[in-house]
Amino acid sequence: MINMHLHIDKTTILKHDVAGPRYTSYPAAPAWNEDVTSEVYQERLKKFGESAKTLSLYFHLPFCRSLCTFCACNVIIRQPDEKYGNEYNAYLLKEMAMVSQAIGKKMTVKQLHWGGGTPTFLTELQMEKLFLRTEKHFNIDKEGEIAIEIDPRTISFDKLKCLRQLGFNRISLGVQDFNAKVQQSVNRIQPFEVVERCTTWVRQLGFKSINFDLIYGLPHQTTESFRKTVDLVMTLKPNRIALYSFAYLPWLKKHQRKMDLSSLPTRETKLDIFLLARDIFVNDGYQAIAMDHFALADDELAQAFNAGKLYRNFMGYTVKPADEYIGLGVSSIGFFEDAFIQNHKILRDYYETLDKGQLPVERGKILSQDDRIRQWVIHSFMCHFEINKREFKDKFFVDFDEYFSSERAHLNRCLEDGLICMKPDQITASGLGKIFIRNVCMGFDAYLPQMQKTTRFSQTV
Ligand SMILES: C[S@@+](CC[C@H](N)C(=O)[O-])C[C@H]1O[C@@H](n2cnc3c(N)ncnc32)[C@H](O)[C@@H]1O
Ligand code: SF4
Repeated sequence: MINMHLHIDKTTILKHDVAGPRYTSYPAAPAWNEDVTSEVYQERLKKFGESAKTLSLYFHLPFCRSLCTFCACNVIIRQPDEKYGNEYNAYLLKEMAMVSQAIGKKMTVKQLHWGGGTPTFLTELQMEKLFLRTEKHFNIDKEGEIAIEIDPRTISFDKLKCLRQLGFNRISLGVQDFNAKVQQSVNRIQPFEVVERCTTWVRQLGFKSINFDLIYGLPHQTTESFRKTVDLVMTLKPNRIALYSFAYLPWLKKHQRKMDLSSLPTRETKLDIFLLARDIFVNDGYQAIAMDHFALADDELAQAFNAGKLYRNFMGYTVKPADEYIGLGVSSIGFFEDAFIQNHKILRDYYETLDKGQLPVERGKILSQDDRIRQWVIHSFMCHFEINKREFKDKFFVDFDEYFSSERAHLNRCLEDGLICMKPDQITASGLGKIFIRNVCMGFDAYLPQMQKTTRFSQTV
């Protein structure tokens, strides 16, 4: 397959580089509130159990042995002592049993994901127990996506083998950067050989695919240093690559404040690093998917992207969409037809609520009809990069142009900027628009003006 190589330059990027939500959900998290309680969650679970819908199931495993200073994930640092995993597992199993009881029957899981933190902080025995108990409560589709995030520094061949035997078929490795100085500055020493060894094991054990996470914009990175990182990545040819822009959120993540600001690459250099990496990936047979994802042309993600059959949820892009989404563990998020639900973010609150026999809900969002209409539009742009106005009318019984008459000016600006093409029944993102799809979506976000007064978002680049 020929890779469509879209040339983008710095001026274009600088023009469209705005701060905004990443739209893994609409409405975005800052618009959520405390109207969503354990009781609301309980009702949604019951209703789900009465349907024939399928499920994506996410487990958040928050522990890490040490803190990478760039990290923006929900993590808890603990020494590698199995008592932490045992305690957490016990609460997870309790939560799962409560959720399963509220559902009332065994539902089919099309997508299972263990994320973190570092899921492999758990011992083999703890992982086995968690997985086998999940199978007691749910029918896990073994042909579905069964994925886990792995820190290459803390994995052994035996642990990987155990995961493969349990049924995991997709691995995502935190790689970030191979340069020794960069690694040292972010408290994450991880030589190439460690990643190479882990990749070899993953392939030996017959996992279906491997993803590498990389970050650009880290302290001491230069275009030359990152070129070497990318060249090394290319020798291992992961099926997928997530190339994240370093999200510097010192107002949320206090540990990031300790970073020496003078060691961060300038915005110009950061852009150069991104463009350099993007060029190498695209020239080496990867399909660019939106801003920060790349997949080898024969990977099902690239094929789904080209066929307009890509889906997106909190776990990222997927080709195996499920109807509903349940998140288990501290800070996890779930989604039902008309509601987002988020668990407590503080471990103590999560444990205490479960001790009281309640589902550990902290907040969420119940969607109005307008939310659902806008969610459909934003989702359609984010995943399929187009809007079919007839489909919209069939679904919501309203005319797209009438409903969004106030958004017309935004669409015209997008058209002038070359982000979209418009036909009477269709709006389609251009090649450039696919990269800056968030900018197109932001014009349909009813909460954005209010959120921008109170929330700081990370930049696109
Ligand atoms: C849960 S971690 C992956 C698994 C494992 N904990 C590890 O680091 O190897 C998720 C990923 O989020 C990305 N990430 C974390 N903090 C980030 C930040 N501030 N900006 C951009 N990406 C970040 C990293 O690429 C990381 O691999
Ligand atoms: S990047 Fe991964 S290993 Fe590092 S602190 Fe964050 S979750 Fe833990």
